Amino acid sequence: MTQLSSLPAWQSLTQHYREISGLHMRDLFAEDPQRFERFSLRLDDLLFDYSKNRITVQTVSLLLDLARQAGLKEKIAAMFRGDKINVTENRAVLHVALRNRSNRPIYVDGRDVMPDVNRVLAQMRKFTESVRSGEWRGCTGKAITDVVNIGIGGSDLGPKMAVKALSPYAHPRLRVRFVSNVDEADLLNNLRDLDPETTLFCISSKTFTTQETMTNARSAREWFLTKIDDQSAIAKHFVAISTNAERVAEFGIDTANMFEFWDWVGGRYSLWSVIGLPIALAVGMDAFEALLAGAHKVDEHFRTQPFERNIPVIMGLLGIWYANFFGAESYAILPYDQYLEELPAHLQQVDMESNGKMVDIEGKPVDYSTGPIIFGQPGTNGQHAFYQLIHQSRKLIPCDFLAAAQSHHSLGRHHEILVSNFLAQPEALMRGKTFDEAKDELEAEGLTGKGLTELAAAKTFPGNKPSNSFLYRKLTPETLGTLIALYEHKIFTQGAIWNINSFDQMGVELGKRLARTILSELADDDRVFAHDASTNGLINYYKEIR
Ligand code: F6P
Repeated sequence: MTQLSSLPAWQSLTQHYREISGLHMRDLFAEDPQRFERFSLRLDDLLFDYSKNRITVQTVSLLLDLARQAGLKEKIAAMFRGDKINVTENRAVLHVALRNRSNRPIYVDGRDVMPDVNRVLAQMRKFTESVRSGEWRGCTGKAITDVVNIGIGGSDLGPKMAVKALSPYAHPRLRVRFVSNVDEADLLNNLRDLDPETTLFCISSKTFTTQETMTNARSAREWFLTKIDDQSAIAKHFVAISTNAERVAEFGIDTANMFEFWDWVGGRYSLWSVIGLPIALAVGMDAFEALLAGAHKVDEHFRTQPFERNIPVIMGLLGIWYANFFGAESYAILPYDQYLEELPAHLQQVDMESNGKMVDIEGKPVDYSTGPIIFGQPGTNGQHAFYQLIHQSRKLIPCDFLAAAQSHHSLGRHHEILVSNFLAQPEALMRGKTFDEAKDELEAEGLTGKGLTELAAAKTFPGNKPSNSFLYRKLTPETLGTLIALYEHKIFTQGAIWNINSFDQMGVELGKRLARTILSELADDDRVFAHDASTNGLINYYKEIR
């Protein structure tokens, strides 16, 4: 047994699971009129309702014991203190410093990082204001109309999600788009309608070595130079966002046009840094700082609230309850908000790259499941795609439902219809429909005789499917910051309890290395024998038909 699975709270939860797994939430609601009040929390206008979970008061108490016994409090303090908790890379993990609106000093290696954070924020403000006002001119004197962010993973997903989410706040002249895939279709289709004289490329890469980003960046530069045959024009149309000044200079971007961040910012936690430049270009620096403020509010909540009132801690513990005791393997993120269309994809990276680990912090194999498979898409679309399996398969898929009480628009009853679905789905998942209820309904419709039993069986919903609901006033920059930070700290909570390093991503390395070898083998038409038979076969067939 590992350190975690031998904890008394883990043992008690294993036993407790046996006792309560048969309970139905319908009954738990019927028995306790206070269940909603008991199992919901507020953070300003955000309501977090976790009452539709397969928990009792005792479950929560045991989960809180687990958090305490696993040393969560000390681990939270270590992160905020700037300790090098990313042990494999010997780095601090300080995305919280990027949004530390209190300016409280935060030290890395004895040096307060806040002056650097504030300096880059000021640089961002100056630059974004000049682009947005039209003061920043392209090489032929025209204002910028299009921003193309070239980046991948954390240098793409976070900003892309936030730009989409905050599009009601976007500058009317500036269109911001994202190119990430090395598949040339991505770049070419995005370049097609662009005017190089009014386009600004942001080359976003923490390392400035990522194959996809550097390939796209080189091709974008080539495209630009074939249209505008003037090397000096690059300075007006290309900026770099990176921690690697040397590589930026090598690429040919003047380091005066470079925006810096630091190795203590993990890629998937970097939208708060200058990786968020496309967000600030789109919505302005005041809104970007409101986004930071929304996240900072959660940082303070996470750092100071007792675990029983701490939303990310509760979110994390519920995830552990299902992953490790119910054997749930996946988790659905279901925003009833078209503007949050990219949220599931962003959280997929944050969660799966952080907690998809099989050794603990000491390098020992874990004997418990870690990060879940994250998927999702906006409601109501998902209802007509994959909800069937959530409702009626044997799989247990915990869900998060998110919605704003106020829309940015007002078109007939659209928003009310959306919200009614946001409210109905968790209810349906929780309640289900018994065989007798289904049969009664069919009989009321006049159905009798043969086929009634089979039809009633097909229309039976087991229910007892857990979900959380997040309801907030409006999707403002501040609310968006709050939501993302809640998930980041949920993921932190889980990684801390699982005793894994949530801040490296060694698992993406092997494929990258093999692709480099294979790329060199694709340079000629010679047959290849160096790999396993399958890989050789695929390479050789590709060479034959390309
Ligand atoms: O997928 C691996 C990864 O290192 C991510 O963690 C990161 O967000 C992405 O690649 C992009 O890295 P970079 O910003 O250095 O180009």
